[in-house]
Amino acid sequence: MLFESTSINGMVLNNRFVRSATWEGLANEDGSCTSRLIDIMADLAIGQVGLIITGHAYVSPEGQASLRQMGIHRDEFLPDLSEMADAVHREGGKIVLQLAHAGCYGAVKLTGIEPIGPSIPDEKWSFACREMNSEDIRATVEAFRNAALRTKKAGFDGVQIHAAHGYLLSQFLSPFYNKRKDQYGGSIENRARMLLEIIGEIRSVVGEDFPILVKINSDDYLDSGFCLEDMLIVSKMIEEAGVDSIEMSGGTVNEGSRYKFSRTLTLESEEDEVYYREAALKYKKKVNIPLILVGGIRSFPVAEDIVYREVADFISFSRPLIREPHLVRRWKEGDTRPARCISCNACFRPARKGDGLRCVVEECLRKGEALPEE
Ligand SMILES: Cc1cc2nc3c(=O)[nH]c(=O)nc-3n(C[C@H](O)[C@H](O)[C@H](O)COP(=O)(O)O)c2cc1C
Repeated sequence: MLFESTSINGMVLNNRFVRSATWEGLANEDGSCTSRLIDIMADLAIGQVGLIITGHAYVSPEGQASLRQMGIHRDEFLPDLSEMADAVHREGGKIVLQLAHAGCYGAVKLTGIEPIGPSIPDEKWSFACREMNSEDIRATVEAFRNAALRTKKAGFDGVQIHAAHGYLLSQFLSPFYNKRKDQYGGSIENRARMLLEIIGEIRSVVGEDFPILVKINSDDYLDSGFCLEDMLIVSKMIEEAGVDSIEMSGGTVNEGSRYKFSRTLTLESEEDEVYYREAALKYKKKVNIPLILVGGIRSFPVAEDIVYREVADFISFSRPLIREPHLVRRWKEGDTRPARCISCNACFRPARKGDGLRCVVEECLRKGEALPEE
């Protein structure tokens, strides 16, 4: 079942494997795309990943989260982005661009722009921002819409709206960040309003047959944050708004929870895998659009079981494909040993220094060196 051809709103996929959005730290400083980034996407397609989702691309300058992150806020970027889409298509793959805004985690040191978010945070937290007024909200909704249109013009197969991990749309969804008293705060319907406006605006410009995906948290793992019940309600709303597939994740950037979206758990056995299995099972009882499940999936039998038991429809990987971009092809060719990724997160280190994402463990093994301390 893992290798059967499927489709999401007419986007035909060769198998049920997805490369989850992964910030590569390899764009130019202005957010435009580089040949290294294009090569990485093409290589994932050569490795037979059914659907590739790019790293998060900021829809407006203040929404940049990280160093050398890709942007989708300027028309000048279109030719290079088209090259990226073409390179993947030449290898028989499909590629979706992840649209993002960091909200109160905007990288002010890189952008020089004060971050914006749903509410002014309590002083004890690690983030600070200006509370968005209705004009900011309108402008941001439009930025997402324009970015989606750019993505379509560049020849991508679809877009994914990043509403997970504590970034802007996740902040609006979460009562931990969102203390607003207007129509964007309070009830879950209000907290989801901005996301739904974005979905509606994007659909109005890309048409009915262009896939729109959303990545959402099953849980923030923060006191009084977004919880499983909220996720189920929002997923249903997203489905009714015409979204084609949901990718389920969880956890929050920067706030130190042990349940970060990229956990450093050592997975001793197959039972330790799949961070959000229970949440996925609940989703499947309530929501009918295809579920892409990400987080801690490392073994072929586990992946097979998830699809066979209808826990989810697609298996998504981030870190395993940093270490082994051709993991899916290896499995397809019959070598079904688990992914070699040990979930250590050392891959973040070179990217944070501006050198781009790579598996440091693999590199050290190749050179016969010990893994350096952070
Ligand atoms: C280096 C790195 C960069 C990431 N960048 C993004 C991103 O741009 N957008 C996103 O939604 N998730 C991002 N994630 C989270 C992954 O997509 C994924 O949800 C998480 O790592 C759990 O999956 P895994 O266990 O297969 O790695 C990133 C993770 C890592 C390790």
